[in-house]
Amino acid sequence: MEKTVLINCSPKKKLSASGFIMRCAGLMIRGRKEYLHLRTPADRQGILQALADAGKVVFAVPLYVDGVPSHVLPFLKEMESFCKENGLRLKVYVIANNGFIEGRQNEPLMQVMEHFCGRAGLEWCGGIGIGGGVMLNVERIMIPVMFFLMILNILLGALNGEDVLEPVRSFGTTIGTFLLLCCGIIAFTVRLAAHISKGTDAGKRYTRIMLPSFIFILFADIFFTVISVFQGGIFRGWFARFKPDAGCSIITVKDH
Ligand SMILES: Cc1cc2nc3c(=O)[nH]c(=O)nc-3n(C[C@H](O)[C@H](O)[C@H](O)COP(=O)(O)O)c2cc1C
Repeated sequence: MEKTVLINCSPKKKLSASGFIMRCAGLMIRGRKEYLHLRTPADRQGILQALADAGKVVFAVPLYVDGVPSHVLPFLKEMESFCKENGLRLKVYVIANNGFIEGRQNEPLMQVMEHFCGRAGLEWCGGIGIGGGVMLNVERIMIPVMFFLMILNILLGALNGEDVLEPVRSFGTTIGTFLLLCCGIIAFTVRLAAHISKGTDAGKRYTRIMLPSFIFILFADIFFTVISVFQGGIFRGWFARFKPDAGCSIITVKDH
C-alpha cells in the first residue's frame, strides 16, 4: 500500500494546532504513514528522503500573513527540484489553519500550494482550511487540564462525602461543548482522511470553530490582551535575553 507522509509545518516545537489536526487526520488515514516535522532547514533532507518512496503527502500548515510560512517556502523549492529529478508524482493534500475565525482566509495559501503542485509536476488533491485554529488549540490543551481537575474534584468530593458524579457531568459538558464547536472541523477532517486513504481528489473545503464571530472577537480580544501581557506586552524588553534585532538577523542569514 502507498505510503502517506504527513508533514507538520508549524515552527512551534510542540503543542501546535497543525500538529494536532494532522495527528487526528492521521488516525483515520489507512495504510503506511510517516509523521515528520518541518521547522528548520536541517529537517528538509530527511523529509525529502521520506518522500522518495511515498505516494501521498499531507502538509499541515499554519497561515502566516495570509500565505505560506516563510520557512516552508525554501523547502517547497527544494521539493520541486527533488520531485522533478526523481520523477515523483505525489498526491498532495493540505490541512491549513489560521488564527482568525474565517477558514476561507486560507484560500491564498491553498492557491500557492496548488500552483506549487503545477510547477513540481505533482497532483493537487485539495484539502481543508480551518478558521479559529488558536481557539481550537487552546481548547484541546484545556481538555487534559479539565480532566485532571475532574479527577481531583472526584477525590476531594469522595473525602468530603459530596456528589462524585457532579465533576464527571461538568467534564462531560466541557467535552460536549468542544465537540459542538468543532463539529465542522471534525466532519471535514473525517472526509479528507477518507479521500487521502482512497487517494482521490478532496477538493477545497473551508470550516471554522462554530462560534458566532462577535463572540469569537470578544474572546480573542481578551485572550490576546492577556497573552501580550505575559509574553512581552508591557514588559517587552525588560527581561529579554537578546535583542529582537539580533534574532532576526540570525534567521535571515540561515534562510538565504
Ligand atoms: C507570524 C504570524 C503570522 C500570522 N498570520 C496570520 C494571518 O494572516 N491570518 C490569520 O488568520 N492568522 C495568522 N496567524 C495565526 C496563525 O495562523 C494561528 O496561530 C495558527 O493557529 C498557528 O498554527 P500552529 O499552532 O499550527 O502553528 C499568524 C501567526 C503568526 C505567528
